[in-house]
Amino acid sequence: ETPEQLAAFEARIQNGEKIEPGDWMPAAYRQQLIRMISQHAHSEVVGMLPEGAWITRAPSLHRKMILIAKVQDEAGHGQYLYHAAETLGATREQMLDALLTGKAKYSSIFNYPTLTWADIGMIGWLVDGAAIKNQTMLAGASYGPYSRAMVRICSEETFHHKQGKEMVVAYAQGTPAQREMAQDALDRWWWPALMMLGPSDKDSPNTPQLMRWGVKLKTNDEVRQEFINEHAPELIEAGLTIPDPLLHQDEQGNWIHGPINWDEFWQVVKGHGQMNRARLEARNRAHDDGAWVRDALNAYETRQHSQAAD
Ligand code: ACO
Repeated sequence: ETPEQLAAFEARIQNGEKIEPGDWMPAAYRQQLIRMISQHAHSEVVGMLPEGAWITRAPSLHRKMILIAKVQDEAGHGQYLYHAAETLGATREQMLDALLTGKAKYSSIFNYPTLTWADIGMIGWLVDGAAIKNQTMLAGASYGPYSRAMVRICSEETFHHKQGKEMVVAYAQGTPAQREMAQDALDRWWWPALMMLGPSDKDSPNTPQLMRWGVKLKTNDEVRQEFINEHAPELIEAGLTIPDPLLHQDEQGNWIHGPINWDEFWQVVKGHGQMNRARLEARNRAHDDGAWVRDALNAYETRQHSQAAD
């Protein structure tokens, strides 16, 4: 890598050009993108588990159909993202191996259990709401395939967000038991949703380089602030109590949160959350159960090749 190559690359980013797969890029840019996009893909795939667990227990056919569509969308998002990472030279096998052996990270949020049906609504409203804030920013990322995947994913996430909000608002205004279920879900998901947007800026080693290269356009704390500013007033309007006694609005109109328990966050990231083990076991089981499909595809491909050679 010469200083001239780097300068030309950074000039393209300054001009708002997209970097495409065959273009010259610094090795560190490629590595950062593979890291981030593969973690993102794993998050989509593992993210199917907490919700998938409730498909058989949905309270109505209508809610079941929405949930099935949503979980299916997450699988599709995982596919786009693995493809985007493949354009940078990562292989599907390497990425899946890293996930299944526990070496790869995926979003902390999916290591929390879904204890009641209201959790499904709260995931839509808060988790997908946080994901949209982060991913709308990433739709402007400098790497073409990632930014384009984000545009499609965000429009699907918007439907997920709306269905979650509609559900929680209905329960918050429903019977006493429904209100209690909605409040309990908020009590358990509020803080993990804030943590999901990443460590505070002072503990975020990747942010400066990612911002310099136009991958992230905002810091973790900036995105977190946007998320709280949108969601806090809506949750309060729905009649729910946000479990943060220090939460207040400042003179600029920003909602300021109390201290986040970063010890809990890092414990979850390091694999010691409530559901880390169960999630990895479930992914490994699904992968093993799918072995016959991969074998059949390989056998088919081998036969096609040998017929072509005849
Ligand atoms: N869960 C698990 N690990 C996390 C989380 C999280 N919520 N937030 C940060 N980390 C990890 C980072 O991956 C990084 O680890 P690494 O260097 O070993 O890879 C470390 O903590 C330090 O964090 P940062 O320096 O702040 O990392 P970064 O600048 O990449 O910012 C962020 C983290 C905001 C998650 C970024 O990677 C991103 O925008 N990723 C794409 C979006 C995404 O993955 N969303 C997943 C959930 S959306 C959904 O599935 C519905």
